[in-house]
Amino acid sequence: MTAAPLIVLVGPMGVGKSTVGQLLAERLGVGYRDTDEDIVTGQGRTVADIFVDEGEAAFRALEKQTVHRALAEHDGVLALGGGAILDADTRGLLAAQRVVYLSMDVDEAVKRTGLNAARPLLAVNPRRQWRELMEARRHLYEEVATVVVATDGRTPEEVTRAALDALELKEA
Ligand code: S3P
Repeated sequence: MTAAPLIVLVGPMGVGKSTVGQLLAERLGVGYRDTDEDIVTGQGRTVADIFVDEGEAAFRALEKQTVHRALAEHDGVLALGGGAILDADTRGLLAAQRVVYLSMDVDEAVKRTGLNAARPLLAVNPRRQWRELMEARRHLYEEVATVVVATDGRTPEEVTRAALDALELKEA
């Protein structure tokens, strides 16, 4: 089966991809899928455990495979893990998709994620790590984005509405 997601959500950890993704799916009357959840289900381990046991490179390889499969299978709203856009082949596939980049500034990011043990990339010095992460990734998110929706100071419902408006999609 070959499908294409109605919407692909990208953006950093903690920006609200899962919450907004589920709201978007509800409003549009379609299914929701999340590639981090696919990985956890497939591996029977948490993302943090995979990082600790096998390292980031092994996680990225699994992530790439999982994202490519989901892009080919899912026809609803698909949320990608925050680092999925690091892969050039994945960015190539996203060029043909309707991609929403949910953005937030670094202050908001630190506030939302804090010292979150479930997010191994932020475990030591969240503020510095956030700044570095976004410096390395912002242009990649922008490169794949069809639209950018800022989330700072907005509720998930407001972000959902802004995304639907930006894409000119009507609720089901
Ligand atoms: C990561 C984001 C996480 C998860 C992993 C790595 C990243 O997903 O895939 O911890 O590199 O930004 P979420 O964006 O869903 O938190």
